[in-house]
Amino acid sequence: MAKHNPIIVALDVPSAEQALQLAEQVAPAVGAFKIGKELFVSAGPDIVKRVRATGASVFLDLKFHDIPNTVAKAIAAATRLDVQMTTIHASGGGEMMRAAEKSAQEMAKALGLPAPLVLGVTVLTSSNHETLAEIGCEADPETQVLRLARLAVASGLRGLVCSPLEIVALRQILPARIQLVTPGIRTGTEKADDQKRTLSPREAMQAGASWLVIGRPIYAADNPRAAAEKILESIG
Ligand code: C5P
Repeated sequence: MAKHNPIIVALDVPSAEQALQLAEQVAPAVGAFKIGKELFVSAGPDIVKRVRATGASVFLDLKFHDIPNTVAKAIAAATRLDVQMTTIHASGGGEMMRAAEKSAQEMAKALGLPAPLVLGVTVLTSSNHETLAEIGCEADPETQVLRLARLAVASGLRGLVCSPLEIVALRQILPARIQLVTPGIRTGTEKADDQKRTLSPREAMQAGASWLVIGRPIYAADNPRAAAEKILESIG
């Protein structure tokens, strides 16, 4: 069996054409592509279908957070698009997460597809103690991450998105089968951009990441394909 390629390239570009060009260029060196809000809102579900049509796996990162019924329907729609991973906010609560996971499983079964991995987002890395306090959460971000991670797993989710610096603590409290998907990856040869807490691809994998979400270090490189190949080599 081919070795798992854990690199997910963030297609953080505004148009379908740019996304498809980037995807085509780097596809042989990466494991999947992430389609986020900017691209999805501008190019629509069609871009998901077009990237899937190349044979590549898709991580649809729309971070749903709504009443359980609405999130379940959105997850069912994402499952019909045949994405391999998608995201919801764990702060939406246990009932919302259970509904999302159930919806992914049931729709996938009805279609004869594998269920997409519904990933829980705990505390956004842009949030700090003050951000949590102003919405009435007195816990510090690290404590809240662990609390929401436990709730997500207890609610049936099979994976989480986490910052590189949370991987070790999460691995200590979570079952080994839980997939951890980690952005905030920097190789050291480029600037950190707006990422403040980063690890290298190798460090993140050694800490226990299952997948690495990498945007600018690949798509903003002079040669994105070569940048992706170099990262893949670095993680052995
Ligand atoms: O360009 P860069 O490698 O920083 O891209 C990282 C990707 O991961 C972006 O799509 C960004 O929105 C996403 N992300 C992140 N930090 C989080 C959650 C998602 O950088 N905490």
